[in-house]
Amino acid sequence: MKITFYGHSCFGIEVKGKHLLFDPFISPNPLAAHIDVNSVKADFILQSHGHMDHIADTVAIAKRTGATVICAFEIHEWLNNQGVTTTHPMNTGGKWMFDFGKVKCVAAVHSSSLPDGSYGGNPMGFVIESDEGNFYYAGDTALTYDMKLIGEYRKVDFALLPLGDNFTMGVDNAIIASDFIKCNDIIGMHYDTFGYIKIDSSEAIQKFERSGKKLTLMNIGETITK
Ligand code: NI
Ligand code: MN
Repeated sequence: MKITFYGHSCFGIEVKGKHLLFDPFISPNPLAAHIDVNSVKADFILQSHGHMDHIADTVAIAKRTGATVICAFEIHEWLNNQGVTTTHPMNTGGKWMFDFGKVKCVAAVHSSSLPDGSYGGNPMGFVIESDEGNFYYAGDTALTYDMKLIGEYRKVDFALLPLGDNFTMGVDNAIIASDFIKCNDIIGMHYDTFGYIKIDSSEAIQKFERSGKKLTLMNIGETITK
């Protein structure tokens, strides 16, 4: 799988030749000013919740690419009202087999409203299973005991976890989360974009190392292969 970081919590992950785009927030992010949002590929957009720092570019990218947006039922209705008709509504606990693999929606402890104040339903994380491997995209969430269910449900090869604290769990709780999900290969997200979520990157990497885990903090625009 090829993983490209577009800043904040936005990743493009290629699975079985399909481009999965998670939580597109690119054009309003000054740290991602060098990313051309019009060249970002998407066959599917996986939308963890409705907050602006996750959905800012979803409507434009979905309209340009025709990507199917996988999201909570309430976000599906909102997107339909914005003229995005290629949506697949889901909700926490549900799974669905797509052509690239299986998506299971898991609990995220957070909130979810849309940019115009509409109710966004439950925030979610996603467990993706495919022939090429399994991974967990946590979305915005606190540390929660529900993460132990993921560790018991599937072996995930890597996980994308928020680290920035204040709005989500921070580094120390993310280390506990990686214990809960039984995965030691973590890619960080939701840090440094705003003043509230600045982290000390080298300290974070050292803390994971001391716990026998690997934390990868990608450069915006960087692509890695897993
Ligand atoms: Ni949020
Ligand atoms: Mn957020």
